[in-house]
Amino acid sequence: MKKNIAVLPGDGVGREVVKGATAVLEAVGQRFGHEFEFEYANIGGAAIDESNNPLPNETLELCKQSDAVFLGAVGGPKWDSLPSHMRPERGLLAIRKELGLFANLRPVIGFHSLLHSSPLKPEIAENVNLMIVRELTGGLYFGKPSERRGESGETVVDTLQYTRQEIERIIEKAFELAIIRNKKLTSVDKANVLESSRMWREIVNEKAALYPQVEVEHMYVDAAAMKLISRPKDFDVVVTENLFGDILSDEASMITGSLGMLPSASLTGDGFGLYEPVHGSAPDIAGFNKANPMAMILSAALMLKYSFNLREEAESIEQAVQEVLNAGYRTPDLQPNGNMVVGTEEMIEIVAQHVKEGSAISSIMGA
Ligand code: NAD
Ligand code: IPM
Ligand code: MN
Repeated sequence: MKKNIAVLPGDGVGREVVKGATAVLEAVGQRFGHEFEFEYANIGGAAIDESNNPLPNETLELCKQSDAVFLGAVGGPKWDSLPSHMRPERGLLAIRKELGLFANLRPVIGFHSLLHSSPLKPEIAENVNLMIVRELTGGLYFGKPSERRGESGETVVDTLQYTRQEIERIIEKAFELAIIRNKKLTSVDKANVLESSRMWREIVNEKAALYPQVEVEHMYVDAAAMKLISRPKDFDVVVTENLFGDILSDEASMITGSLGMLPSASLTGDGFGLYEPVHGSAPDIAGFNKANPMAMILSAALMLKYSFNLREEAESIEQAVQEVLNAGYRTPDLQPNGNMVVGTEEMIEIVAQHVKEGSAISSIMGA
């Protein structure tokens, strides 16, 4: 199989970890006889520096002509004081919207050998395997108006807006995932306050009738934040609004031990996807070869699974990550006490080597 992949390193540690994704795909190519061709383009701060535009047209066009996209991360203090339409983050929001990437899948999987990296008690963090399905192109991030208002400029507005169709398609995606996973769906909202959440809840109930095999529960977002770290094993698929999903996924990363462990897939309705870590550009550690590349590496596995339907190949990456963690290799974020501390580049090399060599393959991440 031959695939063309657009690679957008972005800023900060995005530029360091993105090599993890290309290196493991090259290793997969060698082992399984596929060809992956990478073409690079700028987004975020790097694109602002080069062309004064956080999402240049060439970048968008390259993505549209590619079979899938890798993105590192965007943003950093250098660009924080720019007006909001010129910020690096605006490039990320625009690419999600322009490519129609409405379904953001954020799997949260506790690797056994990292149990002691989590701040949670081992018996709470053990065997967690849940999937946050975050709506990505609507809600509070995109509603209009969103502006500083009034003559005095003393009033600000952000709008939480959804159409019925936008809610329906994300809820359907979540039900489809629940069916092939453990058949439980938790819909997270704030229906005791927000009108948008009341419509969301209504639609979940309508769709539930079409998926009788799936157990459905509704949970307020504040309670969900608490339950995610007190009883994470109670969750299978969690579906929620854009901003709620953003916040809950960073929180859930602590189950795994580090934000540097969470991959993500942002999908259209027909299998096209952009794959990026959940974390940001981590300016506090950028440039020091310290960033954990696993979130980016596991995002490559998600690409193989969701965009190319290469299951065995995807599992070879997950397996390699598990073996390397079992062998005791750790980047500094994983509280390595007693284990072997390695840098970003070394970690990427070790995982890619394991992918090339291969070993018994079994699914770790599930559907
Ligand atoms: P962040 O995710 O960049 O970092 C939060 C904390 O987690 C930091 O202490 C960082 O060192 C640590 N961390 C993150 N990724 C890590 C990794 N791979 N390995 C080890 N440690 C890691 O969030 P922030 O500091 O709030 O934001 C920094 C910048 O990144 C901002 O400009 C923000 O807008 C942007 N951001 C971008 C994305 C994205 O591109 N998808 C996501 C989140 C934040
Ligand atoms: C993420 C990030 C982005 C978001 C920011 C950088 C716009 O936090 O991908 O989780 O809020 O979606
Ligand atoms: Mn986020």
